[in-house]
Amino acid sequence: MPVARIARFLVAASALFTAGPAPGAPREPATPRHAERDSASFAKPSLPRGTHAFAFAPFADALRLVAEGRRVFRHDTFGDEVFWGDSLRLHEALAQTSPRAALALGLKVDADALPRKLAAALRAGRVDLDDPATTLALLRLDAVVGVTGFFDAAGRIVSAGTQCALCHSTVDDSLAPGVGHRLDGWANRDLDVGRIIAAAPDLSAFERLLGVDAAAVRAVLEGWGPGKFDASLLLDGKTQRPDGGPAAVLIPPAFGLAGVNLHTWTGWGGVAHWNALVANLEMGGQGTFVDHRLDDADRFPIAAREGFGEVRRTPDQVTSKLPALHLYQLSLRTPRPPRGSFDRDAAGRGQAVFEGNARCATCHVPPLYTEPGHNLHAPAEIGIDAFQAERSPTRAYRTAPLAGLWTHGKGGYYHDGRFPTLAAVIEHYDAFFGLGLSAEEKQDLVEFLKSL
Ligand code: HEC
Ligand code: HEC
Repeated sequence: MPVARIARFLVAASALFTAGPAPGAPREPATPRHAERDSASFAKPSLPRGTHAFAFAPFADALRLVAEGRRVFRHDTFGDEVFWGDSLRLHEALAQTSPRAALALGLKVDADALPRKLAAALRAGRVDLDDPATTLALLRLDAVVGVTGFFDAAGRIVSAGTQCALCHSTVDDSLAPGVGHRLDGWANRDLDVGRIIAAAPDLSAFERLLGVDAAAVRAVLEGWGPGKFDASLLLDGKTQRPDGGPAAVLIPPAFGLAGVNLHTWTGWGGVAHWNALVANLEMGGQGTFVDHRLDDADRFPIAAREGFGEVRRTPDQVTSKLPALHLYQLSLRTPRPPRGSFDRDAAGRGQAVFEGNARCATCHVPPLYTEPGHNLHAPAEIGIDAFQAERSPTRAYRTAPLAGLWTHGKGGYYHDGRFPTLAAVIEHYDAFFGLGLSAEEKQDLVEFLKSL
């Protein structure tokens, strides 16, 4: 089949997947700018002349899976309303939260899910942002990124669930601050997950697992701060770092992960492992998860006691979605830094420092910026404490992939945000490795990191 015909087929196929929703399906936004760029890249396959149609099947399959994975990432709760709604009763708190307060907690609104009139009213500042009824209206439109409200026939909210998009998406603020086109894979560093959970009326699930009262649970959750979440809290029950700071870690981006071996700050596993862990153990999705490393009662007392090392819930609402979710995440490319956001000449010089005398590229191997292979390091190798590493089965830190750093500077760098700026990260390496970098070299390195 000639290339032009393949291209036409691909365009038609991708149009199929970005067209309107199936009846009853959650509403998909009209193609945002970023999706346009992505489907444009699908439309230019470089297949050799004379390739037969069957040879094209993997491309069509991949496209179908990516589309399905996007739906799962954005809209699927995996049945976790059992946890967020039925147990925590988070929907009752949402019903009393004004849109202004919700935006202040870092929740985002998908402008493409808004009817034209509402979008115009919002743009003109004619929407009442202090009325919780507006929040409910947004939930009814499935416009709150990563949160799904469930309503009864009388229109009352009866439950709520969350999605991956809650923490791993933001919006481009095109309509108003916090309201815009979705940016899937971006870490939502505005989101105060701890405060959102702490607002839920019933924290008995946390109280039981942690063995403390509701006030103590709220104090822990409210101590996390924006952009952070503690995925290990309900596994090991640790609430504080040895220095008294919160034990939570920064939400990492979920783009640019293709080719990267181990994921999470401490390398728990590959994307497929972590997706299953998060869906089942963190979000409360109803599925199957097996990881017997969690049976270690010394390191994971709560997980071992509760049998989190082997969870089998029926019907399984997670497992069948993992292939599409995995492929979708791998398909999310790292966004380029905006024009003019860094000094091009300095970045060029910084690259030479990065790959040369600063020796950064020995671990951060371009263009993955992590090690192709086993990408873990003992805490002492990078000169930091072992607290968070010791909470992971690996006892290590994963070499963070650096592409797209410019999207997640808020909250700082390293797993817990201990370095407020890129310059501070470089100072740390300079001192720890005794690099002896000059002030110019350090400045050039910063510009290079901003360019990734
Ligand atoms: C409540 C916020 C939250 C939700 C919801 C959430 N994540 Fe995460 N995610 C995090 C945090 C925090 C980490 C870092 C965990 C760590 O390193 O200990 C993370 C890490 C990851 C990583 C590793 C990225 C990397 O390279 O380090 C992937 C992949 C990921 N999440 C995918 C998902 C998927 C898929 C879902 C939905 C099934 C999901 N997450 C839901 C907060 C969240
Ligand atoms: C021995 C391997 C190693 C070397 C050498 C190394 N890094 Fe890292 N880097 C890591 C690891 C591991 C992490 C993750 C730390 C954590 O999770 O707290 C990291 C994290 C980072 C981060 C934070 C990323 C984020 O998302 O917060 C930046 C920035 C960074 N390194 C830049 C550099 C620069 C610049 C150099 C050279 C001066 C360098 N690294 C040298 C292993 C290395």
